[in-house]
Amino acid sequence: MTGSISMAVENSANPLLAGLEPERQVEPLSFVIFGANGDLTKRKLIPAVYALFMQGLLPRSFVLLGTSRTHFSHEKFRNAMKEALLKFASDLPFTEESWQRFASSLYYQAADSGTETGFEDIKKTLSALDEKHGTNGRHVFYLSTSPSLYLPIIKGLGKSGLVVKTRVNEPAYPRVVIEKPFGHDLASSLNLDEQIHEVLREHQIYRIDHYLGKETVQNIMVFRFANAIFEPLWNRNHIDHIQVTNAETLGVEGRGAYYEEAGALRDMMQNHLMQLMALVLMEPPIAMDAESTRDEKNKVLKSLRPLTAATIDENAVRGQYGPGFILGSQVPGYRQEPSVADSSQTATFAALKLSVDNWRWSGVPIYVRTGKRLAKSITEVAVVFKDPPHRLFENPDKHGQTHIPGNVLVMQIQPDEGISLKFATKQPGPNTTVRWLNMDFKYGSAFGTRTPTAYERLILDCLHGDPSLFARSDFVEASWKYIQPIIEHWENNALDFPNYAAGSWGPAASDALLARTGHTWRRL
Ligand SMILES: NC(=O)c1ccc[n+]([C@@H]2O[C@H](COP(=O)([O-])OP(=O)(O)OC[C@H]3O[C@@H](n4cnc5c(N)ncnc54)[C@H](OP(=O)(O)O)[C@@H]3O)[C@@H](O)[C@H]2O)c1
Repeated sequence: MTGSISMAVENSANPLLAGLEPERQVEPLSFVIFGANGDLTKRKLIPAVYALFMQGLLPRSFVLLGTSRTHFSHEKFRNAMKEALLKFASDLPFTEESWQRFASSLYYQAADSGTETGFEDIKKTLSALDEKHGTNGRHVFYLSTSPSLYLPIIKGLGKSGLVVKTRVNEPAYPRVVIEKPFGHDLASSLNLDEQIHEVLREHQIYRIDHYLGKETVQNIMVFRFANAIFEPLWNRNHIDHIQVTNAETLGVEGRGAYYEEAGALRDMMQNHLMQLMALVLMEPPIAMDAESTRDEKNKVLKSLRPLTAATIDENAVRGQYGPGFILGSQVPGYRQEPSVADSSQTATFAALKLSVDNWRWSGVPIYVRTGKRLAKSITEVAVVFKDPPHRLFENPDKHGQTHIPGNVLVMQIQPDEGISLKFATKQPGPNTTVRWLNMDFKYGSAFGTRTPTAYERLILDCLHGDPSLFARSDFVEASWKYIQPIIEHWENNALDFPNYAAGSWGPAASDALLARTGHTWRRL
């Protein structure tokens, strides 16, 4: 007891420690990053590992081995990572002394992942480092390369003996973390999964969905299942509909070639938004362990009513932005972006109406939209409750509308992470005038502490061998199964693009999608 109190005091003295559980100890191990010369390593992975180091959350003996084709000495690699840290993680405390202590765990091995000798070189270096640091063959491999290298790397790891299949009750090393995207469509995802399972068992595979590492996304579970007052209302009897919005003002930011292959469905819907919806819609898991939670999320996907060629046009809307204005500045249309075809049919906006065929959600429409170059950058889940059964108050609102919508609970994922509940009050004065107000909780002001990044949380969980916040094979498959018919339908039926101006809220068809059931998108 005394120990936990003193730990709490120590934590409060260190702003970095807030939000992470200090008692979690990791055994000595080596963390190997493939693609160590890449953007994600510099921008996210190194800052996350450094933040864990500064919080004392890495094991005493820890090795980070970076590998990619470019030749670096250990020293040159350390310098490149220091530069990246200073550039991309200026909010983290940095002193030369702390950097030197961290940098002494960083190593580099040049290797081409397409060759056998590459893996032999990595193996030799790792075994020398194991000896030097006592990491004893405990290896976690992080695949931060282009998706076309995932399979060659996993096969190379298998062939060189760097990874072997382990049983569930054995220590789960080696582990392999796989970046997104996992497959380009249902067939390629199934193929990738099948081939990975020839080398690894499911409990050794950590498929990253960085949305699941976000504090606000994890808070959905706590909000729903640690408070007894909301769950009784969380069903078709009280909820009218749910709106999920993921809007960005950004365009494709020089990643036109990638986006041409991806589009809104693959980039956001199949992975992040499906995970988000599953957390909002799932049944309470029987325990807070990885498999119980992932079982419940998977049941939600199994309950989604599949869309078919006959129902897609009625339930799915696509859009592509043309030129317009974002925050007063003129921006080009998608087809004018570098590496985008003049006649591109890629959707930069997608909105879906989902129907969940189970007892809890039957008849409750779930609307989801995602888009680039929209009017505002915001990600939220809005739960819109039913109107009171008998309306006593009919005051017009400031827009002259007499039907005032009911209570709305909003879980804002980004920016200004928090939760708000809209409710009716009487405006002070001689008349009974109803005013709608928000009861607000904001993460930033409520806790006043730094929020760990998603990558910090996910890397730490992986080092601990906790896959709760990683996508399981069956979820990825079910999600692709739902999205694939829409992708195919859109590929086979061209549309007249562009159909929305940059800086707007998407195509008119998106509003019509909700209007058919008497709903409107929230004004954000
Ligand atoms: N960047 C992001 O913000 C972000 C966000 C979410 C997900 N992701 C995912 O993360 C992964 C990595 O993205 P990234 O942006 O970091 O890509 P990237 O900048 O292209 O980095 C990949 C690195 O892989 C190395 N590489 C290429 N071919 C290789 C080979 N044959 N053998 C060994 N190494 C090789 C390259 O270094 P050398 O030339 O030195 O070999 C390159 O620097 C992708 O799957 C992406 O979808 C990225």
